[in-house]
Amino acid sequence: MTKFLIIANWKLNGNYKFINKNINLIKKKIYKSLYFCNLSIAPPYIYLGYINNLLKNTSISLTAQNVDIHTKGSFTGEISIKMLKDVGVKYVIIGHSERRFFHNENNDIISKKFILIKNNGLIPILCLGETEKQKKRNETEKICIQQINSILENSNINILNKTIIAYEPIWAIGSGKNANINEIQKTILFIKKYISSLNSEIVKNIYFLYGGSVNVSNLDIFLQEKTINGLLIGKASLTIENFISLVKKAEKTINSFNSS
Ligand code: PGA
Repeated sequence: MTKFLIIANWKLNGNYKFINKNINLIKKKIYKSLYFCNLSIAPPYIYLGYINNLLKNTSISLTAQNVDIHTKGSFTGEISIKMLKDVGVKYVIIGHSERRFFHNENNDIISKKFILIKNNGLIPILCLGETEKQKKRNETEKICIQQINSILENSNINILNKTIIAYEPIWAIGSGKNANINEIQKTILFIKKYISSLNSEIVKNIYFLYGGSVNVSNLDIFLQEKTINGLLIGKASLTIENFISLVKKAEKTINSFNSS
């Protein structure tokens, strides 16, 4: 059974108090009752090792929010893929629009990171999506394909096997404006069709997530869309009570689909 993946992207938020409270409540209130959902936490780098210890003996995994393109050496301030592996990380988010925008990361850098993560046995989560302007110009599909092609230009189609693609329209992130479900479905199906035209087996092994202003009130529409295999949750993961309700609701809804 492929489980629905929920990733809490804490971005640049949290401290030891926040982490202890959040992880304790997640362990106490939800993790033992998760059967249809997998949960992963993406905290700021410096807390990864600490949270890894808190999550020992649970099925909750760790996600890193970034990685450097170098594996070691004189790169002050950077964190390598080997270090992420060392502290127990499973997934690594790359290509997030906040990194593209605030840190000038382009498709070339993101493609190098993707290949590095994959070749080191971790799972890349490639975020892609269009800006509001690009959407208005009907360029969504073109932009998504460009972002995928930049990886294929530096590798081959096998690199996409067992990876994750997160469709995150940039205008929907943190804005409170989630994308229309038909548009999400259309874009994910388009990406799937494109990858399938290159290799019809590999596309079956790619998880497709959606991210952008998902919360407990609009969650249902995303759960009902079968092209979506999981969600990247930013703001709504920061208030633990809401996040727990969201995960519980996802588990219950998916359970009801499976039994009907
Ligand atoms: P948001 O963030 O849920 O706050 O829109 C999503 C993301 O950045 O992945």
